[in-house]
Amino acid sequence: MKQLLFAFLLVLSLLSAPPATAAVRPVDVCVTCHGALSARLGMPAKLWKASIHAEHGVSCNACHGGDPMDGANSMSPARGFRGVPIATEIPTICGGCHMGIAKYNAASPHGKALGRGGPTCVTCHGSHGVVKATIDQINRKNCTPCHGFESAWEIRNAMLKTDGMLKAIEDRIIELKNQGILTDTLEKRLFALRNQSHSLFHTLNIDLIRQESAHLQAELEKNNGIGNTGTGLSIGALAVGWALLAALLFYLIKKNID
Ligand code: HEC
Ligand code: HEC
Ligand code: HEC
Ligand code: HEC
Ligand code: HEC
Repeated sequence: MKQLLFAFLLVLSLLSAPPATAAVRPVDVCVTCHGALSARLGMPAKLWKASIHAEHGVSCNACHGGDPMDGANSMSPARGFRGVPIATEIPTICGGCHMGIAKYNAASPHGKALGRGGPTCVTCHGSHGVVKATIDQINRKNCTPCHGFESAWEIRNAMLKTDGMLKAIEDRIIELKNQGILTDTLEKRLFALRNQSHSLFHTLNIDLIRQESAHLQAELEKNNGIGNTGTGLSIGALAVGWALLAALLFYLIKKNID
């Protein structure tokens, strides 16, 4: 009976799938079938479609297992389907791709409280509507259901300046790109640097975060002369020139040599 229901749902969902998508790449049956369902079974697909994971082709099976190419057996345990993960499994699943972060998280007070009231990756990022992470996610609403806000606020402040610098460089790269300048290498390097800096949050180690942030800022300022302008923290407001990009490259190269 269940088999019959699935077959019916599958046909229904394939019929409603846009033909353009089908022509370009193989149909992902998890997405098409769940996309045609409602409530608890349909919402994940709706949220996922607008996520950064969808944008990068990380589909349902990346977290739930199963076979997205075989409608009849897609949710068979024999195809690795593992159903809805419980809290204690989540960091390992996400950590399959976000390895460095999972490692930091596991060693942090949050990781150590896993299964005993600590948050998992999806407490903060969500399971399906995952979007680009920002420092603004460290706020009172997200961080005070379980404890006070002081440590969270300290960590946010320690990261704020570096974050502004990275954003300014990002904006400048977009500008250059719009002028038709090839920015692929810069983008890749910025991505690595941003990743390094954002990952560090998950240690929840304020001393380590302060130390790394200060190091990065010093490199950027030393090479750009920003420290002499007297404008202090308002780096985001300054026009970021080639000098800052050069400084970024300098820092990255040095970091690689170290
Ligand atoms: C033909 C339609 C169809 C396809 C294809 C399909 N699903 Fe489902 N899925 C359902 C239905 C109906 C349910 C609810 C009934 C059940 O759990 O057996 C469900 C349940 C689920 C659940 C919740 C299970 C639970 O224990 O609550 C998850 C997670 C899930 N599907 C993920 C996937 C993934 C991942 C794929 C692809 C590998 C997939 N589904 C393919 C229709 C489908
Ligand atoms: C990045 C990992 C990830 C991806 C990708 C993902 N899920 Fe999930 N999903 C989870 C986690 C973790 C949970 C359990 C926590 C929760 O309910 O949010 C979950 C829960 C669910 C549930 C149970 C919801 C409920 O309220 O009981 C369904 C159904 C489901 N996912 C289907 C899907 C479908 C369909 C897709 C693809 C469109 C998908 N998931 C993509 C991680 C993911
Ligand atoms: C199959 C690999 C894979 C799995 C599993 C996976 N992700 Fe991702 N994730 C990616 C890719 C690829 C991107 C897009 C590139 C990037 O930004 O890192 C991404 C992006 C993200 C981002 C945005 C990063 C940014 O640039 O701000 C967050 C947050 C995120 N994932 C959280 C999660 C969480 C939480 C889970 C588990 C529920 C998870 N991911 C599971 C591959 C994966
Ligand atoms: C689901 C509950 C939960 C949420 C939500 C949560 N935490 Fe925690 N947090 C804990 C638990 C449990 C501990 C370990 C016990 C403790 O130290 O209070 C902890 C410990 C910490 C610590 C180390 C202890 C300290 O006070 O110095 C920091 C820092 C921290 N959390 C920051 C955050 C930030 C930032 C957010 C929001 C982005 C957040 N937490 C959201 C449960 C949570
Ligand atoms: C207490 C909340 C919280 C928990 C738990 C948490 N994160 Fe994050 N995560 C954040 C915040 C806040 C940022 C943004 C930090 C910043 O802007 O510097 C972030 C950033 C990220 C990024 C973006 C990194 C980049 O390249 O920019 C990814 C990916 C990510 N987290 C994945 C995970 C995974 C995987 C887990 C579980 C192992 C996890 N997070 C657990 C709050 C959390």
